[in-house]
Amino acid sequence: MPDQDRTPYVDALLAYARSDPGRFNVPGHQGGVGADDSLRLLAGQTALTDDIPALIKGIDVGDPNPFQEAQELAADAWGAERTWFLLNGASQGNQAMCLAVAHSGKSLVAQRNVHSSVIDGMIMAGLVPHFAAPEIDPELGVAHCLMPEDLERALEERPDAAAAIIVSPTYFGAAADVASLAEVAHSRGIPLVVDEAWGAHLRFHPALPRDALDSGADLVISSTHKIVGSIGQSAMLHLGSGRFDQEIIDRCVSMTETTSPNSLLCGSLDAARRQAAVHGEELLGETIAVLDEARTELDGMPGIEVIGTRLLERESVHAWDPLRLTIDVRGTGMTGYRMAEGLRDIANAHVELAADTVIVAVFGMGTGTPARARRLLDGIETTLIDLGVEEPEVIPEFAPPPPWGEPRMTPREAFLAPQDVVPFDDAEGRIGAEPLATYPPGIPNVLPGEVLTRETLDYVREAVEGGGYVRGATDRELTTLRVVARDG
Ligand SMILES: Cc1ncc(COP(=O)(O)O)c(C=O)c1O
Repeated sequence: MPDQDRTPYVDALLAYARSDPGRFNVPGHQGGVGADDSLRLLAGQTALTDDIPALIKGIDVGDPNPFQEAQELAADAWGAERTWFLLNGASQGNQAMCLAVAHSGKSLVAQRNVHSSVIDGMIMAGLVPHFAAPEIDPELGVAHCLMPEDLERALEERPDAAAAIIVSPTYFGAAADVASLAEVAHSRGIPLVVDEAWGAHLRFHPALPRDALDSGADLVISSTHKIVGSIGQSAMLHLGSGRFDQEIIDRCVSMTETTSPNSLLCGSLDAARRQAAVHGEELLGETIAVLDEARTELDGMPGIEVIGTRLLERESVHAWDPLRLTIDVRGTGMTGYRMAEGLRDIANAHVELAADTVIVAVFGMGTGTPARARRLLDGIETTLIDLGVEEPEVIPEFAPPPPWGEPRMTPREAFLAPQDVVPFDDAEGRIGAEPLATYPPGIPNVLPGEVLTRETLDYVREAVEGGGYVRGATDRELTTLRVVARDG
């Protein structure tokens, strides 16, 4: 059994820094000697001393070396065959994944509301996407998970798919039935990729939803920095089975990565892994207990309803993650956007996400202390008093968006084609060159390569006029749209 209490890479960095090396290499501040005072204030001298370049004997050179050992310990902790540290977030993991999928085929079946980095990865890899819609919550207007039967249908429609990718858990803490989804993919002989950006902690407490690797996923993208406490931007890619070729993934990871890996980011992954493996259960247990109490208190506040077990009423939701406080604010008469703004301005408290109907506060693995929960609860209470709770208008159920336009080009072809910028209302019939996703529910209405229909354009316009917003368009006012040029 590997000793999860060790931090080989962190130790090697510290030993190197302690040896007071003569630094005549990069980075140019050379241990902080050449750093501007403002950088020293920002990062601290320690961070500058520990900002150590790649290719140093005893750190990441030699076989084995501490950097490799750190990744092996991470693979062991998460139950992976192999783990790669990523320095450009889970976004890099999604891009590398797309490049790897393109080695075994042309098409990728994807949950429609995958992160934008998957679409970017498809552009890089030239993949032909085929999309499956997640369940939409008609009351909250948010997207939940993909159902196994919907994956099955998408794979029937696209029998040449080389892999399928789903998202679980969601921003709102809903976890999919990953085991059944994996079975569906495997029954067709293809791997299931899970974007588990929001679930790096799941493996470390029995009360949490079963993690994707344990549920049979073949490749898992994990945003370790989101909940497990590594430094922002650091993430991991876990290989779960032989359905992907390790060597190809390795190449795809290095293709999407800097040649100057940051030692603090990598070191933070080594440290976060140790914390999760050694103390995760205890830390998560405390956080879960504190947030349970917070939910009860929040439910007693006027107009507020916390969404926890209620998520399980939705067919696509198999389990839910209690590290998210997803708060339905409809009963307050204000939108989630207004509530989040109020919290920020009145209580200097910042939540992770605001949508029309909800706000989502995120807690990290070891950050659910009573004092921190109290700060949020007091902030919400003060905000409700200051802004005033009003009888809400009757809110109509969320109307499902129109069908997606026909794909005429791959995202890559549309991205590389000559483009025109046309008035929004004149874009009907043209091929979109940029994505458009209205919130709620944040499922792209248009992706590059798809025809812009009148129905979709009207829907997007009405959604924005009705107080929603749209992501993806270069012109945020939606006066114009980028489309593929007619001779493109
Ligand atoms: C589902 C999902 N995947 C991937 C990412 C990208 O993660 P990162 O910011 O670590 O690149 C995000 C970011 O929010 C996400 O929500």
